Amino acid sequence: MATLDIEEVRACFPSLESGYIYADNAGGSQTAQGVIDRIVDYLTNTNVQLGADYFVGMLSTQRVAEGSFSAAELFNAGSIDEVGFGPSSTMIFENIARALENDIRPGDEFIITDEHEANNGPWKRLATRCNAVVKYWRPTPVSADNPYSVAYKVEELLPLVSSRTRLAAITACSNILGSLVPVEEAVKALRQRAKEKGAKKIEVSVDCVAYAPHRKIDVQQWDIDYCVFALYKVYGAHNAAHYVRSAALQGSLTSIAHHFLDVGNKPYKLQPGGPGYELVYGATAVVPYLKSLTQEDDLTASFDAIANHEQTLLAPLLLFLTDAKQVARGVRVVGTSKIDLSRVPTVSFVVVGQNAMKSKDIVGAFDKKGGIGIRYGHFYAYSLIDNLRPKLDVDDGVVRISLVHYNTVEEVEKIVDVLREVLA
Ligand SMILES: Cc1ncc(COP(=O)(O)O)c(C=O)c1O
Repeated sequence: MATLDIEEVRACFPSLESGYIYADNAGGSQTAQGVIDRIVDYLTNTNVQLGADYFVGMLSTQRVAEGSFSAAELFNAGSIDEVGFGPSSTMIFENIARALENDIRPGDEFIITDEHEANNGPWKRLATRCNAVVKYWRPTPVSADNPYSVAYKVEELLPLVSSRTRLAAITACSNILGSLVPVEEAVKALRQRAKEKGAKKIEVSVDCVAYAPHRKIDVQQWDIDYCVFALYKVYGAHNAAHYVRSAALQGSLTSIAHHFLDVGNKPYKLQPGGPGYELVYGATAVVPYLKSLTQEDDLTASFDAIANHEQTLLAPLLLFLTDAKQVARGVRVVGTSKIDLSRVPTVSFVVVGQNAMKSKDIVGAFDKKGGIGIRYGHFYAYSLIDNLRPKLDVDDGVVRISLVHYNTVEEVEKIVDVLREVLA
């Protein structure tokens, strides 16, 4: 298995030179130098409207078009005509839901994971507009000792499927629990059950925002119809990318672009305005950055190396939070405590019981110390936190420490040292 040269990795991120410990990466990663360079280059040399015939116009058009090749590679889409860009994942999901409106019938059913509101709200609003029914696939406890140790189980998804199931909107990785949802297995089982039940048409939308920094997306292998991730979590800038299967572009979506634009069955159907040209061009540097992580020049090898390194970050943190002393203190990991490839190093916890501490106060102690950025709250996975039992204060939420491959074991040890002090 390829390993990362962590010094070389960190040298690609100018912000890391300061030594500040970025441990809120699930909120947004740092930006690779290559991305910054392309954004500056675009704005300096080709910042004109697309589609014009003069030289600079043609160059800017070409640069933005290159974004589709990068997105197709990151999704492993079959064609560049299945991918596009938007301002944020939340906006893209809303656009997909708007474009889907003419293809939803009263009584159709949506199954959604109780996760980040970006992949929940648009479907709930669409259900209200179309008189469809929403069902929830919720994570349930996996440990008798810790009620907050919850995970998604495929066997709990299947009873939700009926002859009216039209859409499943699931997450590939929880931005709170850090656990990976077995997308391929879940989708296979879901489609099989839907077929047995006689469902006429079922489509699957996957939120890959919390997944994409850690693992390779494969929309073809997963057999899904819609997929979205945000570049600002994958070492890029503040924009997002979408995949829509060509069958869905043709048969499910109505264009939400200007009526006089001949968008055909292209992803522009979902793009009511410009995609943020400099940011799309910036995104073209993400694939080269990721590929540079190993000698193989291959995304699969890079993500293997990322996963491998991230396990070494996960271990000290989870071992500390789950040691007998911390458990007796009231520390409860929100999510599973397994140190294996079923999760990423996004680790959430609460401190409950007689000596309970507010998440806000724990993070406050970090802020006072300075030099480390972690965060507390519901992280927009409002219902996920609100539905945990025993009930938590949803606004105080959880403390979340979220690491990515450019973090070091030494940084995690520093975080653990501060935690030990704060929780003493
Ligand atoms: C799992 C998940 N989905 C969706 C989003 C929303 O992404 P965006 O800011 O691109 O709308 C986030 C943002 O944190 C997230 O963590």
